[in-house]
Amino acid sequence: MAPRPLEITDLLWSVDADGIPLAVSKAAVVDRLTALGQRRAARIVAAMPASAGILDAAYVDALGLRVHCELQRLGEELQLARRIAALLSPIVDMVRLHRPGRVRIVDVGCGLGFVVRAMAASTALGGDVELIGVDLNPFLVAEATRLAGREGLTCRFEQGDAFEPELAIQDGARCIVISSGFVHHLPESGLAEFFAAQARLRIAAFAHWDIAPCLWSTLGAWVFHYARMREPVSRHDGILSARRAYPAAKLQRAAQIGAPGYDIQVMEGSRWHPRALDVLRPIVGILP
Ligand SMILES: C[S@@+](CC[C@H](N)C(=O)[O-])C[C@H]1O[C@@H](n2cnc3c(N)ncnc32)[C@H](O)[C@@H]1O
Repeated sequence: MAPRPLEITDLLWSVDADGIPLAVSKAAVVDRLTALGQRRAARIVAAMPASAGILDAAYVDALGLRVHCELQRLGEELQLARRIAALLSPIVDMVRLHRPGRVRIVDVGCGLGFVVRAMAASTALGGDVELIGVDLNPFLVAEATRLAGREGLTCRFEQGDAFEPELAIQDGARCIVISSGFVHHLPESGLAEFFAAQARLRIAAFAHWDIAPCLWSTLGAWVFHYARMREPVSRHDGILSARRAYPAAKLQRAAQIGAPGYDIQVMEGSRWHPRALDVLRPIVGILP
């Protein structure tokens, strides 16, 4: 089986076990992409500034910000925060009913925290819900925190690994873990462990939104990214995302292995009457 191609943004940042940014060798990134046959991606990285062979961190962080702003615009077009809140609302009610106390929603791989910030700004879930975003990239976490402060929101953001959600979860039974546009960044070998890391904490539910791979999403991603995205990295990664996203059956299998005991469902739209909004669909697991 051919190795999965990589997105450029998967390679531009690296952190140590304490979340401290590490130097990234430009040659190592270019070589990795070249070895996978991704020549265009390798050319994009080769044109980035570096000194003594190390990618210029300030340039890369600023690029990351621009790419995530474009991603936020896509999320807004897909009404992501509204749809996520609508799906979570009855689950939050169910948790409130069975476990008195504040319900916590943790968004892993939150990027600039657009979904968390938008839900914090709305009243859709009620004011007693705690909203926390977690991301591996400390620069994005700092930026999400800054934006939430400017917007006067009570949500918060933490640097952390989606495979160690316990750092953001105190009482699993009152916690729901979500993500958007994140799961396809995981290697296939890590999928079951991703779900298991949450299931071990006996969280009330999880809901992970990602691209439904099909002809429509591949075509749609191509048209949208060329029409609306300006950054070559956004175009490259966005179009590739649609191609390398996991089909429902694979996600379902991994979730059943990692989170046995959960009622799991991939909520896919109709293949024959596709709606643009359904390009991102959730896999939902609820602890009965
Ligand atoms: C495509 S972005 C999605 C951002 C955001 N959820 C959105 O919808 O705009 C993927 C994010 O996952 C983060 N990420 C990648 N691996 C991670 C991990 N193991 N733990 C936490 N975050 C991770 C990246 O830093 C990046 O911000």
